[in-house]
Amino acid sequence: MDDINDIVTLEREIWGEAAANHHQISQRIANVPYGNIVAVHPDGRICGYTAFCMLNYDEYARQGHCSWYDLSGKGTASTHVPGASDLFGINLGVTPWAPKDTSMRLLGEVVREGIRARGRRGILGARMPGFHKYADRMPAHEYWKVERKPGILLDPELRFYCKFGMKPVRLVEDYFEDADSLNWGVLVEMRVPWVVSVFGPVLARLPVDIMAILEKIG
Ligand SMILES: CC(C)(COP(=O)(O)OP(=O)(O)OC[C@H]1O[C@@H](n2cnc3c(N)ncnc32)[C@H](O)[C@@H]1OP(=O)(O)O)[C@@H](O)C(=O)NCCC(=O)NCCS
Repeated sequence: MDDINDIVTLEREIWGEAAANHHQISQRIANVPYGNIVAVHPDGRICGYTAFCMLNYDEYARQGHCSWYDLSGKGTASTHVPGASDLFGINLGVTPWAPKDTSMRLLGEVVREGIRARGRRGILGARMPGFHKYADRMPAHEYWKVERKPGILLDPELRFYCKFGMKPVRLVEDYFEDADSLNWGVLVEMRVPWVVSVFGPVLARLPVDIMAILEKIG
């Protein structure tokens, strides 16, 4: 809770007007105390922040309620259901001055916490910030699958999450208000192998590289 003001400052630096506010961040912490992780620069400043909650994604998918606002409870994590099997990533932001690999380390910590919480699947919504440059040439339904080389997606944010081992699964109109993406988003997912879901909660308590283990198994 002591970090809230520093997280709000960081959010404004990263997201500008779209930044989460004090209320949203304090609600996230109250709703999911283990679902808020910060990265700290060697000089002591917070340089990255990520938040998630646990929910039953299929219930939202069935009703077609898959925007960021639906899944995150308008950024408050009020959608959190203790014991639910899907981890939903609400936010990931890293400052340009953060040490290299900060974003990957934060995502790795999210996976660790998700496994501790016995999650079976990780889901988050990527914006498509490159779409506005192509929107006059192709519809979103085409753009989200376009590759710049075989196996490498064109959109930089989708590419980023694929680099982390996530797979694009669903295109969502009006996912998140974002001019560059023309409000489109893509849900990307990572499934936890059954063997990890059985032994993972123990592994996740140990100081081991959980991502390296997942890569070997997966
Ligand atoms: C997305 C983010 C966390 C990535 O962190 P990072 O430390 O820059 O990540 P890396 O250095 O590991 O990777 C950079 C890659 O991400 C790509 N990327 C990811 N998100 C991007 C975005 N929104 N816009 C442009 N490029 C993006 C870069 O093009 C680069 O791709 P490349 O290596 O194929 O050229 C960081 O840029 C950030 O906080 N951005 C603003 C907030 C945001 O968009 N968050 C994600 C949505 S929730």
